[in-house]
Amino acid sequence: MKYFLIVLLAHFISNAQIKEGQLDLMPWPQKINLGAGTFALSKNFKVNITGNPNPRIFIGATNFLRRLDGRTGLFLEQAFLTKINEKPEAELQINCVRNGKIEINEDESYQLVVTSNKITINATTDLGALHGLETLLQLLQNSSTSYYFPVSTVSDFPRFTWRGLMIDAARHFQPVAVIKRNLDAMASMKMNVFHWHLADDQGWRIELKNHPKLTELASDGYFYSQEEIKNIVKYADDRGILVIPEIDVPGHASALLTAYPEIGSAIANGKVTYEVQRNSGIFNATLDPTNPKTYEILSSIFDEVSLLFSGSYFHIGGDENNGKEWNANPTIQKFKQDNNLMNNHDLQTYFNMKLIPMLKKHNKKLMGWEEIMTENMSKDAIIHAWRGTNEGQEAGGALVKAAKSGYNTVLSNGYYIDLLLGLETHYLNDPIPKKIILSPEEKARVLGGEAAMWSELVTPLNIDSRIWPRTAAIAERLWSSQEVTDMKSLRKRLKTISFRLEELGITHLRNKEVILRNISNNQDTQSLNNFSNLCEPLKNYKRNGGGKKYRMHSPLTLFADACNADAAQALDFSEAVSTYLDNKTVDNKRAVTNFFKKWVVMNNDLIALSANAPLIQPLLPLSQSLSDLSEQLLLVMNKKQTVNSTLMEDLLEKCNTRSPADVELAVYTSLKKLVEIN
Ligand code: ACM
Repeated sequence: MKYFLIVLLAHFISNAQIKEGQLDLMPWPQKINLGAGTFALSKNFKVNITGNPNPRIFIGATNFLRRLDGRTGLFLEQAFLTKINEKPEAELQINCVRNGKIEINEDESYQLVVTSNKITINATTDLGALHGLETLLQLLQNSSTSYYFPVSTVSDFPRFTWRGLMIDAARHFQPVAVIKRNLDAMASMKMNVFHWHLADDQGWRIELKNHPKLTELASDGYFYSQEEIKNIVKYADDRGILVIPEIDVPGHASALLTAYPEIGSAIANGKVTYEVQRNSGIFNATLDPTNPKTYEILSSIFDEVSLLFSGSYFHIGGDENNGKEWNANPTIQKFKQDNNLMNNHDLQTYFNMKLIPMLKKHNKKLMGWEEIMTENMSKDAIIHAWRGTNEGQEAGGALVKAAKSGYNTVLSNGYYIDLLLGLETHYLNDPIPKKIILSPEEKARVLGGEAAMWSELVTPLNIDSRIWPRTAAIAERLWSSQEVTDMKSLRKRLKTISFRLEELGITHLRNKEVILRNISNNQDTQSLNNFSNLCEPLKNYKRNGGGKKYRMHSPLTLFADACNADAAQALDFSEAVSTYLDNKTVDNKRAVTNFFKKWVVMNNDLIALSANAPLIQPLLPLSQSLSDLSEQLLLVMNKKQTVNSTLMEDLLEKCNTRSPADVELAVYTSLKKLVEIN
């Protein structure tokens, strides 16, 4: 009887009509229709591929099976896919009309149809089919005993063709495994451009056979071999991702000039030397644009780098040339005069224009940060907007200016995930805000955007937590309809999406515990974990105090590294406070005061832990302040004490101070609301 009931219940659950709001799809598809019924999964579930796809679809479908099996534990029978039409009887039929090209503006659309006994993915290219497989994995549902896909039809395509992630491997080297797992995560979010920042003041990270000095003198031994680069480019290609290398010139050149000081712009009174930088910041080291040798070396570097990357774009950086070395160098000043170059921008344009044919030779287009957009710059260049906001047309809107001036352009301002801003900032940052009027031609020049992961404060230990899950929100902004903007829905779906990223090896969740264990000196981490869910790392680069606090070899194993933007409990607390302020019932009050009780206990636990964990000491002042204010608010809200507003204000302000642990209390704003009404 009991068994019968369970079976009945399972049957009932699996046939319950799923609603759109229950689905944790991301990026949200352009069109989805849910029908009645389900496709039940069994170990006999198989995949078949037809049409004329690129063989990458076999790898994609095999990975799909392994992930599905990992989630369901079904011991699926089908092992690998290697050929067209291998299993004509399979329940999942994928048809691709043609081989997808890893390039911009390729067809990435797909149609996914789930019926009760058959699933089909139809796509023009295998790239679309790969996206369809990701959507299908996200559709997976379960009852208490089984797994199924809801009967549904999805018709999907990207809003923008360029959906990228930049990883800076120069400031902190990021090993192959870090790059690969992030490529997998990108593919799961239907992202298609990996921009790889390979050289900067703090290091040269790509092996060049014709220039061994670069890695010998400027990498500290941390660099990608050519075999590794090729392997990653292939790995990305298999996942439908284009890789764009960046060699940042003429500024950000300390590493390059450490190997080749003779092409630097510093005045050569005696011998000029450069060195690899150990701090963050903007440095003076700049290539000499008047020296023919500069172009000889660059051309040879570009020849070798270009051959390792199959795509048709090459990023030359071009940002933050502070001009100090150029200004101080009389030969360079004379060159400007002789060549009618009015200022350093003109001189940099002269330099940039020399790079175009070097890249054209390899069928590559030059891309650069927005500083390269000067009056005489070639309209073939792609402008990468990064400064200011994307809203004002003139005030910082390089993307709009570029599109209006005839350049193809990609947005990164608003997508700087290293600023550690909240989800909403990035998610609501539209590449083409509604209030900005662009013609259809201008709109078409806005290719999309890129999340930017600068690596001054990230190592392999914490980098995933800075990229994910916020980059999933950016991926949705770039793929989905402009109308998909509901934060509540985003946050709800992101919980599942974030968890599913673990399946791809992303360490953003699990490494937190690793860091906390280190801080706790291998004691119980519960109280630390609770506190980390209330704190956020300082935003907008404030953590690094002008680039001087953390050098490239400084520890990034600290409390701020365990904390993240969008502190988990801050939102819960904020909701409890809002609910209470709207309606001061006993229950609503208790929901708020329960937090205070927990925080007082947490503080005592942290103090106890600190007896054998010196790394906890820097956290204690902030935790104590929170505990003090919590106690006071408990007394006041429970009417055990009348309000002493001076004391309350004082305690509140202590909750708003920069902690020696480089974090801020994410519950501060909600605390302030409570103090203000009490
Ligand atoms: C940049 O952030 N300097 C492009």
